Amino acid sequence: MIELTHVSKTYAGKEVKAVDDLTWTVEDGKITGFFGPNGAGKSTTLKMICGVNSVDEGTIKINGHDITTDGLEAKRQFAYVPDDPDRFLRLTGIEYLTFMADIYGTPAEKRAPFIEDYAKRFEIYDALSSRISDYSHGMRQKVHVLGALIHEPSVWILDEPMLGLDPKGAYELKEMMREHAARGNSVLFSTHVLETADQLCDAVCIIAHGHKLFEGTLEELKAAHPGTSLEQIFLEMTANE
Ligand SMILES: Nc1ncnc2c1ncn2[C@@H]1O[C@H](COP(=O)(O)OP(=O)(O)OP(=O)(O)O)[C@@H](O)[C@H]1O
Ligand SMILES: [Mg+2]
Repeated sequence: MIELTHVSKTYAGKEVKAVDDLTWTVEDGKITGFFGPNGAGKSTTLKMICGVNSVDEGTIKINGHDITTDGLEAKRQFAYVPDDPDRFLRLTGIEYLTFMADIYGTPAEKRAPFIEDYAKRFEIYDALSSRISDYSHGMRQKVHVLGALIHEPSVWILDEPMLGLDPKGAYELKEMMREHAARGNSVLFSTHVLETADQLCDAVCIIAHGHKLFEGTLEELKAAHPGTSLEQIFLEMTANE
């Protein structure tokens, strides 16, 4: 579970808040989709939850651990896949996964089966001995997802994880998200693909200009706008901002 209470963030040199007084709960056992136009504040919010960006005002707790005052324990709770997979390029895939397993203290007996199972599902098993710099965008995305998940945390935080994945990769990731949520864990992801909300999300949060416009289930959102497509609802909500 992730709990944000009156969270705000202003980047240095900017007058407008990137995130403005956001109060929101991401519940266990659900896949939560985070939607909003470009520049709405999604990545900023996810980076604050993960401790990459500091929180100016308010509090963020992950499974009850405050990211500001109890950062180490809070960080043990989650996996974070950033929006940019061009990282650790000089390492091979297997070196990167081993590095991630080492820093999170994943026992040796859990690593090999995890890597074999998930890398095969993502069809990158045979590429693990190559450098990440030689990977395509989608392959980089996949290895970063595996690196994030290798310590098997309860909370998954994924910033546009489907971007650049091929259909099989996107299908497998969605399946992994469903399996993880079905085990009672939290899965939070941002996306611009509204269809994934219908396919995947138990709950959604929509923001624009750092303000929350909607938090709830897809059924609640649709019931509030009868006879309107999801695309139309989204366009109208964000246009009014
Ligand atoms: N490092 C930064 N320094 C200064 N301003 C930033 C920085 N990162 C983001 N911003 C600003 O904060 C606001 C929110 O950006 P953010 O990246 O959180 O949006 P987003 O919802 O993730 O957008 P997108 O859908 O394009 O990924 C934007 O106005 C952006 O210009
Ligand atoms: Mg973003």
